Amino acid sequence: MVNTIEKISRIKVIPIITIHQLKNVVPTIQALIKGGLPVAEITFRTEVAGEAIRIAAREFPNILLGAGTILTPDQADQAAANGATFMVTPGFNPRVVDHCLNNNITIIPGLNTPTHIEQALERGITHVKFFPAEASGGISFINAIAGPFGIIRFMATGGINDSNLKQYLSNPCIFACGGSWMVKNDLIENDRYEEITRLAKEAVRMVNEL
Ligand code: 3PG
Repeated sequence: MVNTIEKISRIKVIPIITIHQLKNVVPTIQALIKGGLPVAEITFRTEVAGEAIRIAAREFPNILLGAGTILTPDQADQAAANGATFMVTPGFNPRVVDHCLNNNITIIPGLNTPTHIEQALERGITHVKFFPAEASGGISFINAIAGPFGIIRFMATGGINDSNLKQYLSNPCIFACGGSWMVKNDLIENDRYEEITRLAKEAVRMVNEL
């Protein structure tokens, strides 16, 4: 059986979605699937995040569904109960990380320092989120860190878009990229689903060219 990290490594691009209105869940994910990306990370940045995950899991049982901006163990539990199969955090919160590990919940903790990489490795975590990627030094950081921490693999997130996606994904230390560029609030709120599909297709094209 292919585990979730392996599935993310294969699909390589994780659209990060913030849902403000539940009516947008289905058409947004439909647009991504139409574009070739059966995957979504729904952030816990709105009151309706948990419910949005529940709807996504019910309507699209076969997509790769994660929860982002997880700040507390309770949010991780809620997201997992509602059908998310992986959790992503912005920073390295030992309480959240250990809670997920103890409960067999896949966790991709965010970090941008060697100190936090050591804390991840100490817990047996080799796949982390590099956040905020561009603001933290981008590819230069990844290359600098590869020396002492050759085993670590990053999901680069924060400032990724179709102009730098290929450059990030070409780096052997990067197993995926996350980002909101193809599912910006403006696109979702204004029902611009064809544009979401177009941007998803563009991302898939770049992955196929690697
Ligand atoms: C995240 O949730 O990881 C970031 O907000 C995504 O960053 P982006 O909006 O720059 O893609």
